[in-house]
Amino acid sequence: MLALKVSELNHNYEVFSFFGNKGYFSVLKDISFSLEQGRALGLMGLSGSGKSTLANILMGFIQPTHAYIEFFGQRARMGTLTERRAFYKQAQMVFQDPVSCVNPSLSVYEVLAEPLVHLLHIKGAELTERIQQACEMFQIAKKYLHKRAILLSGGELGRVCLARACAIAPKFLILDESLSSFDLVLQHQIITLLKELKKEISFLFITHDLRLAKAFCDNIILLDKGKIVERILPTQSFTSPLGKELAQAVL
Ligand SMILES: Nc1ncnc2c1ncn2[C@@H]1O[C@H](COP(=O)(O)OP(=O)(O)OP(=O)(O)O)[C@@H](O)[C@H]1O
Ligand SMILES: [Mg+2]
Repeated sequence: MLALKVSELNHNYEVFSFFGNKGYFSVLKDISFSLEQGRALGLMGLSGSGKSTLANILMGFIQPTHAYIEFFGQRARMGTLTERRAFYKQAQMVFQDPVSCVNPSLSVYEVLAEPLVHLLHIKGAELTERIQQACEMFQIAKKYLHKRAILLSGGELGRVCLARACAIAPKFLILDESLSSFDLVLQHQIITLLKELKKEISFLFITHDLRLAKAFCDNIILLDKGKIVERILPTQSFTSPLGKELAQAVL
């Protein structure tokens, strides 16, 4: 079964000139791809190629100019709050910049509790247990639970955001550069864990790191200025000019 099917997705951003004239910037052009359940699809491309825009469209945060999107065989419905709640129980995203998506007044415990309480209505002993499980999974020490989340290091906060998204057991998860703040040892450990989670979760894995994409993903697509220019298996090498450049740019 397909976890995700995207057909003919196009998106234009509205832009305004210095004199206030409205124009359009075509950020995604004719994007079509699918993701099998239990698999991970890598999404690569230079900065500004449209990766986060695509992720935000899939999550319903941006209304695309034109697209046909299906999750698990059905068109995603996000018209009402009830529909959005139902959707976010199944689909989650870990954002590119963890600091900006964490409420600065909340402790780590409260950050982890947020979706469990608001989406799944879990409380009491079960809530504490789910939070403890998520912490164990993502190596978040107990002593951090009552610390304010934004005081954590980039790698620690990154793990909290991953744990928050996984704690509600979604069926589909977008990771937007979510491992880039981790040291190499932690990247290796988290990739091993995410591979285990593929039994339950289908992933869209956005990364600039070809090494990580090849280690984790079952397919990789390459975006260039909003267009898919290449699709490879992790065992294959890129052959397009941009893909070759990316592969050679490893220091
Ligand atoms: N709200 C907006 N209005 C106009 N243009 C935008 C808007 N948001 C993003 N853009 C532009 O769209 C393009 C794609 O941005 P996007 O954030 O999707 O790129 P990206 O591939 O995620 O880049 P990075 O690897 O740096 O995260 C960029 O040129 C960006 O400046
Ligand atoms: Mg981005």
